[in-house]
Amino acid sequence: MNAKKAAAEKAVEVVQDGMIVGLGTGSTSYWAIERIGERVREGLSIQAVSSSLASEEQAKKLGIPLIPLEQVKSIDIYIDGADEVDQGFQLIKGGGGALLREKILASSSKQFIVIVDDSKMVETLGRFPLPVEIVPFASHLTVEKLRQLDGQPEIRMKDGQIFISDNGNYIVDCHFGTIADPERMSAEINAIAGVVENGLFVHMASQIIVGHADASVKVIH
Ligand code: A5P
Repeated sequence: MNAKKAAAEKAVEVVQDGMIVGLGTGSTSYWAIERIGERVREGLSIQAVSSSLASEEQAKKLGIPLIPLEQVKSIDIYIDGADEVDQGFQLIKGGGGALLREKILASSSKQFIVIVDDSKMVETLGRFPLPVEIVPFASHLTVEKLRQLDGQPEIRMKDGQIFISDNGNYIVDCHFGTIADPERMSAEINAIAGVVENGLFVHMASQIIVGHADASVKVIH
């Protein structure tokens, strides 16, 4: 069993009847959604909200009941992957470009369970480029502000075109090097006009489930 699948399946064990479940995005969340689909077919009764169009499609195919976010006041449990997790449970997310919806769901959840393979665990954040979502309007000016913060910003491309997020925005991948103070950096980035959100998830994770190649998992609270 792969490490991502092991972490994902462990997280889904805590899902119970009656819960509103937030579905994450990415190759680790894929396994969580698959497992939730299996449990729904076995009789689990939940409602789900999704952090991306891709995860919504997967959930629909599996018959997981989806409800519009507008009908939800709070989410019982949100299960999602991360690109990096530091020793203090701070995260970089957004490698797949879904960081804005992911942050909205995570911040409205009673429990945010992060599922990763062991390669994502780091001492200090920053090796993975930090994704920042910006509005397309005057994007060159916003990118320049990120450059002034020493972010070495690069607008994300896909198949020769600018990558567009599910919300119609651009993603700028920034190379700050070591991020010693994620809380401060997040505040500085979000203070730039034109920035919608950044991929630092500070003080949001309730627990981290780390999967290993031998299918063992470690739950860190
Ligand atoms: C999606 O935008 C991301 O935040 C993902 O949750 C993150 O990139 C982890 O993805 P993988 O599980 O594919 O590594």
